[in-house]
Amino acid sequence: MALFKPKAELAEVDFNHLPRHVAIIMDGNGRWAKRRGLPRTAGHAAGAETFRTIATYCQEIGLEYLTVYAFSTENWKRPMEEVSAIIGLLKKYLLESIEKMEKDKIRLHFFGDLDALPPELRELTVRTDDISTRYEGMQVNVCFNYGGRDEIVRATRAFAADCLAGKRNPEELTEDLFSGYLYSAGVPDPDLVIRPSGELRISNFLLWQSAYAEFYYTDVLWPDFSKEELHKALAAYQSRSRRFGGV
Ligand code: FPP
Repeated sequence: MALFKPKAELAEVDFNHLPRHVAIIMDGNGRWAKRRGLPRTAGHAAGAETFRTIATYCQEIGLEYLTVYAFSTENWKRPMEEVSAIIGLLKKYLLESIEKMEKDKIRLHFFGDLDALPPELRELTVRTDDISTRYEGMQVNVCFNYGGRDEIVRATRAFAADCLAGKRNPEELTEDLFSGYLYSAGVPDPDLVIRPSGELRISNFLLWQSAYAEFYYTDVLWPDFSKEELHKALAAYQSRSRRFGGV
């Protein structure tokens, strides 16, 4: 049964066979702002709006998991003003989401080291995480102060600590068991990773989880990414033959 009927002008997508998990590197905010003679922070504000639109639409079409890269472990190198603006946008989004979660039923989770966030923002992430346990809607994972290598190192450390504590032993380690030590424990691997803005890099995003993901790149900058662009990415995904290393 088709759950969703798009407008005719959108790229053809089979809504009965959507990827379960789509991950997006929200790139191009700075260039979007520069082209308009605006400060980079205006690009991030526009990018946050796009995130809201795309997340709502993903829920509408029946996607199960959406993961977005909002702030990497390397992004602290940016000017203080830009870092504060991104943190401020996350706070604004969380405050608005808390009010609407009851209605929207979008579950929010975080991948990343949240210890580095201001206490007030940390408290908001704990609240949204907690509210999310009451719903069964689409799960949105916001990667914040996230790095794929950092995630793997932390998981390795946690596993080693369990071994030292006698709870685990090295011989029993499998890929599945290791996955359970990552921020993404319990979340299926992304089927499709989208990177707008013309860059052809993975940039330390979901390194372990995207081992067999399909990649979709577009020159469109993130603030201009629309439902139409998402449809193109989904249609491209559906045209691929996934073999997971087989024939
Ligand atoms: C990359 O573009 C974008 C970021 C580092 C920040 C993304 C943040 C948001 C979209 C807003 C906050 C998020 C939420 C979830 C509310 P860039 O700055 O590297 O762009 P450029 O490559 O054009 O310079």
